[in-house]
Amino acid sequence: MTAHRLLLTTFMKTVFVTGGAGFIGSAFVRLLLEENSDFEIINFDALTYAGNLENLKEFDETRHKFVKGDITNREEVFNALPDGCEAIFNFAAESHVDRSINSASEFVLTNVLGTQVLLDAARAKNVRRFCQISTDEVMGSLPEDENTFFTEESPLKPNSPYAASKASAEHFVRAAHETFGVDTIITRCGNNYGGRQFPEKLIPLVIANAMNNEPIPLYGDGKYTRDWIFVEDHCRAIRLAFEKGKSGESYNIGARNERQNLDVVKSILDALGKPHSLIKFVTDRLGHDRRYAIDAGRVEMELGWKPRVSWEEGLQKTIQWYRENQDWVNRVRSGAYRDYYKNLYGMEVGVK
Ligand code: NAD
Ligand code: DAU
Repeated sequence: MTAHRLLLTTFMKTVFVTGGAGFIGSAFVRLLLEENSDFEIINFDALTYAGNLENLKEFDETRHKFVKGDITNREEVFNALPDGCEAIFNFAAESHVDRSINSASEFVLTNVLGTQVLLDAARAKNVRRFCQISTDEVMGSLPEDENTFFTEESPLKPNSPYAASKASAEHFVRAAHETFGVDTIITRCGNNYGGRQFPEKLIPLVIANAMNNEPIPLYGDGKYTRDWIFVEDHCRAIRLAFEKGKSGESYNIGARNERQNLDVVKSILDALGKPHSLIKFVTDRLGHDRRYAIDAGRVEMELGWKPRVSWEEGLQKTIQWYRENQDWVNRVRSGAYRDYYKNLYGMEVGVK
């Protein structure tokens, strides 16, 4: 070991981030590397279709060690997790609702079994705090015509297989806290957007298709509502929940930014100077949740969090990122992506 490395490992706090090559996980890793100089990160990721090390290419290995591994594999997890870590941040997941409707088994494996393997490892290796990155979707759907919001007391009523797997994972996290006294935090956030998001999700899909003058598939009447948050704001809230959150608690994270899908799509087309005629209304998603809206009162009052990035600024930054990284877009819209797309939408994409 070099003297430099020895010095680092003596004073550094180690955190174990799973899914750190994905969209939100990589934004979280970037935030810690840029703003928490006393942290070193073990980034444990299976590099599924959604994982991409290009997302972190600007960082060397000084404080960021990447380990390719699967959270459902006990041996891989136990080998990679050192004793006495500051935290596990569990971002690793199958994260796309449409894929879960097509086939739920992978979601049960990674999102449920994988979380339990990590909880077992946290106990065995004396991890100080376990942070489970969950989602507002565990609370189901809200009526569109009422001024109601998800709070931390809302019952769990997941509607999609994805949401059911995330709700199930939350129950195992709670059980580890209640039964074994594991120090846990659960965060539940709404829809994230920002650069480096895989173009299966609405905003990057719309940007990528529009940049290529391809039709934009919009489900149902397009009036479904999501509560959008810029990814860095989400990551800052997770860090605060880790630092100041109360053990065993859940924290809902949202930027009070409800938007209907049709309005989101039109804003993107306008920003790119593309015609609204690219919008193509397609068959609705099965079990499609009508509205998500988060009451972020607890993270605001208890943790002193508030979003820094407005919707207008965040969307502009996001579009700019995709414009400047068309190679990234072309690479991820690979053969496997084109097959996925054709199978889901019955349309071709990315064919020149
Ligand atoms: P993503 O699909 O972009 O990334 C998931 C990452 O997990 C990928 O890097 C993938 O390789 C890795 N992964 C998948 N299976 C794995 C396994 N078995 N072992 C190890 N690594 C594995 O997802 P995202 O959008 O960045 O979401 C991250 C987390 O945040 C998820 O837990 C998701 O449920 C949650 N979340 C997402 C949103 C959102 O809007 N995207 C909102 C709230 C919560
Ligand atoms: O709310 C948090 C959740 O947000 C996260 O837990 C999930 O991981 C994340 O995928 C996201 O789920 P959604 O299903 O809300 O996101 P998605 O981007 O798939 O869809 C957003 C909305 O846009 C939803 O109402 C469905 C609609 N949509 C989506 C796609 C991909 C379309 O109309 N057309 C599309 O092609």
